[in-house]
Formats: sequence, structure tokens, C-alpha cells
Amino acid sequence: MTADNVGTQPRVLVIIPTYDERENLPGALERLRANVPHADLLVVDDGSPDGTGDLAEEIAAREAVQSGRPVIHVMHRTGKLGLGTAYIAGFHWALEHGYDVVVEMDADGSHRAEDLPLLLAAVSGADLVIGSRWVPGGSVVNWPLARQALSRGASVYTRLALGLPVRDSTAGFRAYSADILKQLPLDEVASAGYCFQIDMAWRVQRAGGRTVEVPITFVERVHGQSKMSHSIVAEALFNVTGWGIQERARQLRALLRRG
Ligand code: GDD
Ligand code: MN
Repeated sequence: MTADNVGTQPRVLVIIPTYDERENLPGALERLRANVPHADLLVVDDGSPDGTGDLAEEIAAREAVQSGRPVIHVMHRTGKLGLGTAYIAGFHWALEHGYDVVVEMDADGSHRAEDLPLLLAAVSGADLVIGSRWVPGGSVVNWPLARQALSRGASVYTRLALGLPVRDSTAGFRAYSADILKQLPLDEVASAGYCFQIDMAWRVQRAGGRTVEVPITFVERVHGQSKMSHSIVAEALFNVTGWGIQERARQLRALLRRG
């Protein structure tokens, strides 16, 4: 804890993975500073060809001068290694540096910093808070119908396959308590793409963690492109199906033992 927040606020780190987000990152960081000034920020850049990593360094240096302490941190990785591994690297960094709450957030403006206080309020009574598009009050703005269908479909399939009672299981706007992250075998998480989100939610459930969903407004990016790909969808479908089979086999074994 730093001197100014002892006994008052938990230490919060917001992790922002970036790949070619030059046009979006400055605005995202600015809105975070305005809406959650007590949070530190960690950009995890995968050697973006458009120079997002260097830009992040410039903004971080400027912000450190303005606020008199390092607020924005930047991690550089060698190449595009996937969203999942970027977050795992960020989680390790957060735990090593003693944060109490760890947030996941996209850099492209889809996750509104204005919604973050709601997630942070909820995490005091939960291990995982999911900013959800698919609970009452949640919404999406300008998101193509095909993406909406894919997102809803993925959540329904996950609920059926794993028995995971989450409405928006691929959501990427989240707050975790450091306590639950410490309990999870982070190095075993192999999901590279967006299926990482399902993987983590399911691990939290199996660890006995409490998950809550709070409604958010998801706004489709204005600049740049989504990194969604066929291989990301294929990985999710393959993994969730595999985990579902394992889970049903485990349930069956438990049933037979009892019988
Ligand atoms: N470091 C790093 N490495 N960052 C990445 C990578 C990667 O390989 N791939 C994507 N990102 C970053 C992007 O730069 C962005 O900040 C964030 O991760 C989300 O990527 P998008 O490409 O904007 O995702 P999306 O809009 O298609 O998908 C959204 O919906 C998914 C499905 O619900 C996101 O909210 C996902 O998190 C979510 O799973
Ligand atoms: Mn996006």
C-alpha cells in the first residue's frame, strides 16, 4: 500500500493488452485517469507494428511527471502472442507488485472507463466481476449482428457444456480479486485467444470463487480493427467442447462412485 491509500482503498491495477491500437490508446488511458484516478495502469503491448508500444512509453513518462509517481506501466513482448498470454503476464506482474484488484480492459474504447467504478464497487463482495452485455441493463452499441450472435451463442454453448452460470462468458471487461488469482494455477492456462475469458471464469468457479455480472454498455471501436479471427473461434469451440466432455465424465464418475 502507498501512503495515501492505506486503510482506505484497495490497490487497483488495470491491464490493457494492445496490438495496433495507436489511435485508441491515448483516449483510453485519458478516460481511465479521469474516471479511476486511484488505479495504476499496465499496457501489455505485443510489439505492435504501428508503434503503440513506444506511444505508451511516451504517455507513461508524461503522466509520471504530471502526477509525481509512475502511474502507467508498459510491458513489451516480442510479437503477437495472443490476448490470453498477455493477461497472464499482466496477472503475474500485478501479484508481484502487491495489487489487491486486477482489471482486464480493451484498449479500443469498447469498455468505458465510466463503467469501471461499478465493477470495482462489486468486487469488494466477489472474486470475479464481469462487465456483461447480456444481463438486464447491459447493451451493445454499433456491434455487428453477426458478432452479437456469436457472442450470445458462445455464452449459451458454454453454459450448456460446462454448467457455467454466466450470461457473458467471453466478456473482456472484468475485475478479479488478487486473492482468487493467487489460488489459480495461472501457468496452466493455455488458452491464447478470447476463449481465455471462458477458461478463467470456469477456473474461478471450480476454485469456489464467487462471480457476479454487472451490466455495461459495450461500444464498438471507431478506429482500427478487431483482432478476432477464425482461429480464435475454433480454439474456443474446441476447448469448451473438450472441457465439457471432461466435466460430464467427471460428473458420471462421481455418480457411479455414489451408486
Ligand atoms: N497484447 C495483445 N496481444 N493484445 C491483443 C492481442 C494480442 O495478441 N489480440 C488482441 N489484443 C488487444 C486489442 O488490441 C484490444 O485492446 C483488446 O485486446 C481486444 O481485442 P479486439 O480485437 O478489439 O477484440 P474484439 O472487439 O474483437 O472482441 C471483444 O469481444 C470479445 C468477445 O466478447 C473483446 O472484448 C474480447 O475481450 C472479447 O472476448
Ligand atoms: Mn474491440
